[in-house]
Amino acid sequence: MKHAIPDEDWPTPEEAARSRLFSPLALTPTCTLSSRTWVPAMVPWRATDAGEVTADNVAWYGRFAAGEPGVVVVEATGIRDVPSGPLLRIGHERYLDGLKRIADVIHERSGGRTRAFIQLIDFLAIRRRPEPARFFERFLAVTPEHRRALARRDGRDWEAAPETEVRARLAALDEAQRADILGARELEALRMGHRERVTDTHLPHIAELPKVLPQLFADACARAERAGFDGVELHYAHAYTMASFLSRLNTRGDGYGGGLPGRVRLPLEVLRACRAALRPSTVLGCRMLCDEAIPGGSDVDDACTIAVELGHAGMDFISLSRGGKFEDARQPRIGEAAYPYTGPSGHACMPTIRVDGDGPLGRNLPLARRVRDALRTAGLATPTVAAGGIVGFRLAERALQEGACDLVASARQSLADPDWWLKVRTGRGAEVRRCKLTNYCEALDQRHRRVTCQLWDRLPGDDVPRDDGRRLLPPPWNR
Ligand SMILES: Cc1cc2nc3c(=O)[nH]c(=O)nc-3n(C[C@H](O)[C@H](O)[C@H](O)COP(=O)(O)O)c2cc1C
Ligand code: SF4
Repeated sequence: MKHAIPDEDWPTPEEAARSRLFSPLALTPTCTLSSRTWVPAMVPWRATDAGEVTADNVAWYGRFAAGEPGVVVVEATGIRDVPSGPLLRIGHERYLDGLKRIADVIHERSGGRTRAFIQLIDFLAIRRRPEPARFFERFLAVTPEHRRALARRDGRDWEAAPETEVRARLAALDEAQRADILGARELEALRMGHRERVTDTHLPHIAELPKVLPQLFADACARAERAGFDGVELHYAHAYTMASFLSRLNTRGDGYGGGLPGRVRLPLEVLRACRAALRPSTVLGCRMLCDEAIPGGSDVDDACTIAVELGHAGMDFISLSRGGKFEDARQPRIGEAAYPYTGPSGHACMPTIRVDGDGPLGRNLPLARRVRDALRTAGLATPTVAAGGIVGFRLAERALQEGACDLVASARQSLADPDWWLKVRTGRGAEVRRCKLTNYCEALDQRHRRVTCQLWDRLPGDDVPRDDGRRLLPPPWNR
């Protein structure tokens, strides 16, 4: 362990009542949050394989709402109706009844103190890391370049050799020899599993993304509204399609890549389409990165420019995250897919007590502050949300007082103890079950297994966060 989580000096109820953290915030003229506390999106892998809401999902969100944060953001929910395992989907009307149960439970269990938002995501295909034998037998497209490279290596003519022989010869090469013959993307497909990129514009479905995504996002927004959500968070962060458009690594030559105006063009078009599909009273914000945290990726200066563009275009809030990219992900085991939170950028996204430097607590606040300052300098009042190792009252309150953000998001601390906001607000901070920041939960997420927390999942029969067996307050619906 490199860093310890210090003891906290919890506030009295009076101090909490005077705090900025527990003061209301008008997110839009028609949406005032009861406090500046926020549970950001966390995928728990509890949907059905068809992407439908389960009782387990409903219990999960009800549990977070019972802690009465200002906002609960429902996990990244796919805007397309395509098979994607137990991730929630919103790409068809048939998902609405289930999603409505989630929006309803958030409102009911919080006694109306918590707003229900939903994160909308699009992602590109990623394949599992293949068995090398299968890769050479089936997946690799044999090209004249492979034949020429083999000819140079072996000193014999491979031009007219049957393809099965070429495949067998390539499979027989050792790691270093393969690295000489295969192209960079082919090597990546072998070592990590094939991954599509927004720059693969030779593929028609990738070239067409700017044509199809605004409508897909807009339709999903309209469904979210019909399901009873108070707001929508467009997922422009981490390793997914929209963040890849914003990235400095996006070199598309069709006007949707290259310099910043090109990279931000599709996110702006999606925003406009979504706004047009929603009632003015429905909140529309996004999550974006204040730093990609990968070599050659966008940094905080890009983030400042992007945030100002999105703010001018009418984003109601900007939630800031960091890293979480595929580019530096650890090599997965054969048969598993790469996971964007395993490399240095992943550690920036969900910092643990083992992280280098200053430690995990409030690690992203200086960058979040830079982005918020850029918005204010541009004359924009767009509220910002910061996340990353915010696990105590003092740090959260300081972040707000010092202008690092307008709202404080805590993912893992809320998972460790969904009642923690309520406990702190009511002067029972000493009873908070504190997150250890060791990422047992994230390891489950990585294996696409039902996410739980090491602090409560071994309690008998427990699948959803519970309250220590000590009911602190009457349930919200009895108050
Ligand atoms: C299990 C798990 C699932 C997550 N899923 C999402 C997600 O669906 N969308 C997202 O934007 N971030 C996701 N995150 C990242 C969190 O929202 C948050 O940004 C990150 O954990 C850092 O905040 P924390 O230090 O308070 O945990 C996830 C985090 C965890 C632990
Ligand atoms: S599993 Fe560990 S890191 Fe995750 S919420 Fe629980 S205590 Fe925190």
